[in-house]
Amino acid sequence: MVDRNGQGRDVSPSGSPTRPPSSFVEQANVTDEGIYETFEDEWPECWDRAGSLLEWDQEYETILDDSDAPFYRWFPDGKLNASYNCLDRHLEAGRKNHAAIWWEGKRGESETYTYRELFVAVNEFAAALRELGVEEDDVVTIYLPMIPELPVAMLSCARIGAPHSVVFAGLSADALATRMEAADSEYLLTCDGYYRRGDAFNQKSKADNALLSLSQDVSTVVVDRLGEDLPHVLGENQYDYDDLTAAHEGETVEPVTRDAEDMLFLMYTSGTTGEPKGVVHSTGGYLSYAAWTSHAVLDIKPDDTHWCSADIGWITGHSYIVYGPLALGTTTVMYEGTPDYPDRDRLWEIVDRNAVDVFYTAPTAIQAFMKWGTEYPDRHDLTSLRLLGSVGEPLSPRPWRWYHEHIGGGECPIVDTWWQTETGGIAITTLPGVSEMKPGAAGPPLPSIDARVVDDDGAAVGPGEDGYLTIQTPWPGMATTLYDGDDEFVEEYWRQFSESEDDEWVYFSGDAAQVDEDGYVTILGRVDDVINVAGHRLSTMEIESAILDVDGVAEAAVVGGTSGANRTDVYAYVSTENDYEPGDALSRTIVSTVEAAIGPIARPEEVIFTSELPKTRSGKIMRRLLEDIASGDELGDTSALRNPEIVGEIQAATRTE
Ligand code: PRX
Repeated sequence: MVDRNGQGRDVSPSGSPTRPPSSFVEQANVTDEGIYETFEDEWPECWDRAGSLLEWDQEYETILDDSDAPFYRWFPDGKLNASYNCLDRHLEAGRKNHAAIWWEGKRGESETYTYRELFVAVNEFAAALRELGVEEDDVVTIYLPMIPELPVAMLSCARIGAPHSVVFAGLSADALATRMEAADSEYLLTCDGYYRRGDAFNQKSKADNALLSLSQDVSTVVVDRLGEDLPHVLGENQYDYDDLTAAHEGETVEPVTRDAEDMLFLMYTSGTTGEPKGVVHSTGGYLSYAAWTSHAVLDIKPDDTHWCSADIGWITGHSYIVYGPLALGTTTVMYEGTPDYPDRDRLWEIVDRNAVDVFYTAPTAIQAFMKWGTEYPDRHDLTSLRLLGSVGEPLSPRPWRWYHEHIGGGECPIVDTWWQTETGGIAITTLPGVSEMKPGAAGPPLPSIDARVVDDDGAAVGPGEDGYLTIQTPWPGMATTLYDGDDEFVEEYWRQFSESEDDEWVYFSGDAAQVDEDGYVTILGRVDDVINVAGHRLSTMEIESAILDVDGVAEAAVVGGTSGANRTDVYAYVSTENDYEPGDALSRTIVSTVEAAIGPIARPEEVIFTSELPKTRSGKIMRRLLEDIASGDELGDTSALRNPEIVGEIQAATRTE
């Protein structure tokens, strides 16, 4: 039985199907309804359409080598450089004065980097990295907020063949240290601090704390973002970004030719154990897939202004702020701030001023816009928008319709895109120039993405039935392995259903889903120990292990509970040691410990003390029951409980919180 997390969501009936307007279809990048069939018939050669969006130093002759499944090698004999593909080739095509990055800062400042200017910045920093001793295949950790130096550094790393590992700036010192240690990374790029709702916030002190706990020696580069607002001192082996790049002013660095399957970057994300997983993405497969999906789904054209409002610290920003849009030579908007500062019309003011064509955001944001009301978008001219996108969580029919009407003026198709850090790019959604949209469902799998919803035995479930979301044939954007190790990769994601060696490998996404009779997939939420809180992916085990470090805590179980429609919060159920009094002080310590171990995004919304956690007769904590309680749902089967008498106490305690 599919036992899904309290991510919850009741599957409300999808809204009525909506056809994309003909004005959109007429200009769309992909309009051929036969594309699904063509991709199926021509698999895997169909993926040449993705590969051919790039320029290769050595053309590939083979599309896919699957001899070592589930380690699939895409374009295995091809060679290329990602930075060349995102920069040099656009200059060679005469587009050097075209805007590459439109940066909107938190204090209303804005900066434009043309492709030429971005090329110069990337080359100078690539030269600086070399001077620091960075060699091909050295992992460079980047711990920066949304400032231009972040994509510049990513492309600089790509230029010299050094994989980057970007750590979301809001994560804690401990979280940074864990990731640097796991990646054995000896280079760090950070900044003095950044503005948060107008206040200067110290980032370097977090980085310095992380460095104290590392066993390796680290060279650190510090961007001076705040100047006089937050003076900082450079310690031993720490360098100022501007000084380093000034020393290489005007230098160019030849892009290093990489094998298609060489690592472009790694990205840590939550998995089913307490430790974050280092998801490895390749240069050729990943980049071609990011470019292909930007072209086919986000409908990006070189002359567009594309705005993905995610943070580059997560995969969405990697694929759809940096690599996809820049590979296609478009203008990508990068926004440092929050949607409601200085006012709740900030995003619409940016769309209006920059004539944004494509806007891609998350359901959490859309729900906030809806709550704030229409007066904010109504203040601005949003008619430049052509396509809207959503990612990260299910987009229910009501916010879908609000987004469609009030942001898209009833004219823009919406792509509700399902994908994951591991898939590298969008995997399930409508093709906006081809498919009908069904509000509430992500859509059919993209051409040649063999997504199926299955039961425990791997058999496809019928329309409308819950099952596990799997993908059954490889695709170019897929992760190639985990930095933690190949065995961990297979164990975490892959299964075969018979003993036979020839049995196909099936990728398990960790999500539950349903498919309707038209093949449209509705995502129901995670089935593993991962929860999705406001679009942030968190491991319950990682949070639990932080809580267990607190003095006086005996046991802890963390679940996602839905407090309001479609909003998941972190609920921590805690029992204390015998002589320890639970109360507000302990609750505060638990919250601050989680913030220090992971970051404010993992902060428990509720800490609920209970004399015991509900356990099965074999002693396993019954998290499923806690999820139901936290979400106020009807309780599932409790007959396996050893201590059923505790349920009433926990329910009462949850209600009074
Ligand atoms: O549960 C699914 C949810 O986000 C998870 C992946 O998280 P992450 O690797 O951080 O990547 C986020 C952005 C790509 C998935 O396992 N998810 C992502 N997109 C959707 C979604 N849930 C419902 N609908 C979506 N469109």
